Amino acid sequence: MDNSSYDVIVIGAGPAGYVCAIRCAQLGMSVACIDQWSDKNNKPSPGGTCLNVGCIPSKALLDSSHHYSFINDHASEHGIDISESEINVTKMQQRKNKVVKTLTTGVKGLLKKNKVEFFHGSASFVDSNTVKISGDTEQSISANSIVIATGSKPFELDFLPIDQKRIIDSTGALALTSVPKHLGVIGAGVIGLEMASVWSRLGAKVTVWEAVDQFLPLVDKDIANQANKMLSKQGIQVQLSCKVLAAEVNKNDVKVTVSDSDGESQIDVSHLLVAIGRVANTQGLALDAVNVVTNEKGFIETDDQWQTNIKGIYAIGDVIGGAMLAHKGSEEGVALAEHLSGQHGHVNYAAIPWVIYTWPEIAWAGDTEQVLKEKNIQYNKGQFPFMALGRARAMGDSEGVIKFLADANTDQLLGVHIIGPNASELIAEGVLALEAELTAEDLARTIHAHPTLSEGLHEAALDVADRAIHF
Ligand code: FAD
Ligand code: NAI
Repeated sequence: MDNSSYDVIVIGAGPAGYVCAIRCAQLGMSVACIDQWSDKNNKPSPGGTCLNVGCIPSKALLDSSHHYSFINDHASEHGIDISESEINVTKMQQRKNKVVKTLTTGVKGLLKKNKVEFFHGSASFVDSNTVKISGDTEQSISANSIVIATGSKPFELDFLPIDQKRIIDSTGALALTSVPKHLGVIGAGVIGLEMASVWSRLGAKVTVWEAVDQFLPLVDKDIANQANKMLSKQGIQVQLSCKVLAAEVNKNDVKVTVSDSDGESQIDVSHLLVAIGRVANTQGLALDAVNVVTNEKGFIETDDQWQTNIKGIYAIGDVIGGAMLAHKGSEEGVALAEHLSGQHGHVNYAAIPWVIYTWPEIAWAGDTEQVLKEKNIQYNKGQFPFMALGRARAMGDSEGVIKFLADANTDQLLGVHIIGPNASELIAEGVLALEAELTAEDLARTIHAHPTLSEGLHEAALDVADRAIHF
C-alpha cells in the first residue's frame, strides 16, 4: 500500500475535476486526480460524462445528423442536387467514438503536462485526509484538501429499468447502432430534445411525453413557443401534461401506457428513452466515513466557497446540483483552485449560458421575461428576427429571433435569449455583456461586421430603444 501525500486530491476527472486539478497544479500545488472511467479496452478515459457520454458524443451525432438533414432537405435550394443519400449509422458512430477518443486522450495529455498525478480507479474516503483507490491495485493517498467532483447519473423510474436495448437512457440513445423505427422519449428536457433531433433527422418517428403543462418552462416564453412550433414542424411531437404509467418490453417493441387529460392510451414504440433529469453520483465514495452531508435530493451541500460541512473537503460540478453544465463545473473548478491557493476565485452564477443544440439552436443567459415580471423589475425589450439579416438569408437559415431585456431605468442588460442558427456561438457576446454589466447602448454602439449573424445582436440592442434600422 502506497501512501503518497499531496496538497490536493481531486476525485473525478470530468470538466469540473480535471479543470480544478490542472488549475491547482498551475498554482503550484501538488495534485492527484482519480477517475474510474474506462474505455472499451479497460484503459482510463478521463473527461467524465461530458467527454465520454455527454456533451461531446451528443454534439458529434447532432452535427452528423444536421449534415444529413441539410443534404436531404436543403441542399437542392443551393443548387446542389444529390440524387440519393444514405445514412451509415456504423460509420457515424465510429466517427463519434474517434472524436471522443481524441479528446479523452487530450485530457490525459493535459494532466500529464501540468504534472497532475493521475490514478485510474474508484475512490472512497477512509478519513477526511485519506482516500482509498481501488483499481488494478489498491492504494491509499492523502492530502490536506480533497475535492469531490464525481458528477451525476441519469434519474431512473422504478417501474422502468434501463436495459440499454429497448429501454435506454442518454448513453443508450448515443450508442444506437441503427435508426430506431419509433423512438418514444420520456421528458422534453435538454437530453430528450437533443436525442429526439438526432434520430428524427435520420428518419425515426419520434414521440415525446412531458409531465408538466409547459414546453421548456425555464426558457423565455416567446422563445419556447417558437421552439415548440419549429420542432413540431420537423416531426418532433411533444405531448405536454402526459405521464408514462407503464411499459411492457416485448421482443421487437415496447408497449407504453400513457395517461393525459383524455385518459389512458397505449402506444407501441421500438425504443423508449428515459430523460427525466439527473441525480448526484456519490455512490461508492463512502461519504458516511467522513460524515459529508447531502441534501434531500442527494446533492452534496457546500458553502459559497465549495466547502462541504467537513473542513478540507470540497465539492464542485454536477454533484452539488444547480445548473448541471460542463462549463459551470469547470468555472467552479478554477475558482476553487484559486481559493485554495489563497486567491479569491468567484463564479458569477447569474451569467451562465445555456444552450440546447436543436436546430435552430436555443441559447440564453440571464433572466427571462417571466422571471423579471416575478421580480417586479421594469424592463425594456429589444428583438430582431433572423429573417431580416442578410447573412441568415444567404445561409438559407433565417428562422428565429434574438431578444434582449434591459433594465428600464439603467439600461443594463438583464437577459439575452436566442433561437436561431449558431445561437450557441452568438450567446457568448450576450454573456460577456452580462458579465461586464454592459448596457444595451454599449452593444448598440459596438460595430459588428457585415454580413454576419452577430448583426442581429446589434440590431436587437438598438431595438431596446426602438431604433433598429433593418426591421
Ligand atoms: P462528470 O462529467 O459526470 O464527471 C465525474 C467523473 O467522476 C466521471 O468521470 C466519473 O468516472 C468519476 N467518478 C465518479 N465517482 C468516482 C469515484 N468514486 N472514484 C473515481 N472516479 C469517480 N453540458 C454542457 O455544458 N453542454 C452540453 O452540450 C451537454 N450535453 C450533455 C449531453 C448529455 C447526453 C449528458 C448526459 C450531459 C450533457 N451535459 C452537457 C452535462 C455535462 O455532461 C455535465 O454537466 C458535466 O459532465 C458535469 O461535469 P462533472 O465534472 O461535474 O461530472
Ligand atoms: P431536464 O431537467 O433538462 O429535463 C427533464 C424533463 O423531464 C423535464 O422537462 C421534466 O419536466 C420532465 N419529466 C420529469 N419527470 C417526468 C416524467 N415522469 N414523465 C415525463 N416527463 C418528466 O433533464 P435531462 O434532459 O435529463 O438532462 C439532464 C441535465 O443534463 C440537463 O438539465 C442539463 O443540465 C444537462 N444537459 C445539458 C445539455 C446542454 O447543455 N446542451 C445537453 C444535455 C444535458
